Amino acid sequence: MKLKHILESQQFTRPLLNELFTVADQMDRVFLRGGTQDYNNKIMATLFYEPSTRTRFSFEAAMHRLGGRVISTENARDFSSGAAGESLEDTINVLNNYTDVIVLRHNEIDGSKRAAEVSQVPIINAGDGKGGQHPTQALLDLYTIYKERESIEGLKIAFVGDLANGRTVRSLSYLLGKFERVKLYFVAPEVIQMKNDILEYLDKHEIWYDTVENLTSVIPEVDVVYQTRIEKERLGEQAGEYGKFVKEYYIDRNVLQSMAKHAIIMHPLPRLKEISPEVDSDPRAAYFRQARNGILVRMALLSMLF
Ligand code: CP
Repeated sequence: MKLKHILESQQFTRPLLNELFTVADQMDRVFLRGGTQDYNNKIMATLFYEPSTRTRFSFEAAMHRLGGRVISTENARDFSSGAAGESLEDTINVLNNYTDVIVLRHNEIDGSKRAAEVSQVPIINAGDGKGGQHPTQALLDLYTIYKERESIEGLKIAFVGDLANGRTVRSLSYLLGKFERVKLYFVAPEVIQMKNDILEYLDKHEIWYDTVENLTSVIPEVDVVYQTRIEKERLGEQAGEYGKFVKEYYIDRNVLQSMAKHAIIMHPLPRLKEISPEVDSDPRAAYFRQARNGILVRMALLSMLF
């Protein structure tokens, strides 16, 4: 199945997800033998207007493992002509002459859609705006759940932390809405609880969910805990509650004790104070395996775009 752009999770159908997982499994074997030269005639541009470690490095490493080449700016807001006021559309038009695919992280919601409207080469949304989408993160998250738990149908998944602004949980909620019998628990203080657009989407697709404030009541129930970072500046008038919230939603050895033996903990990273480092050595801590899956899924997506 041919992809044109990757802009949002909703564009991924179940057959497309199945194909992606099959190609990602193949890419694991390619990766383990050091890569391929199959795409040595391709050039990828990474155009990031916001900071990134995993997304940018894993896309660039994925392109290198596929035999392709990479052109990049590490901070497009300062080191591209965006700093002089050039529009995103003009930048994309120009890059179309130089590259076969553009991986774009933009600071505005719909930055990727605007780019796709003027681009002849594929645009990959690598995260756009606060509370926008991050579809390739959600795809690698879904692939991680599939690899760790073998089936996604019927799983109970708790999203924890900043659900209002976190683009990864928004994108992953859309994807999970495509699977039968999943149950989603949105665990967060009211001020950063999941927004209505996602809840309405889940209602429309008859996906069971609950919004709760208490983490400890949910932890023993679930197969997956998807932890995210709470940022003080996003709490608005409740910024004074930051320390309390961090403590309430913290995952440490005590929380592990009430988790099911088969359950896993995920996190898109970067992590600050929301998971204790003592959890890292527990086999249920899946977040570094999740980060490794990023390169496999991004190799698969690039190969499906070319
Ligand atoms: N998960 C994620 O998007 O990480 P980066 O911001 O480091 O790319």
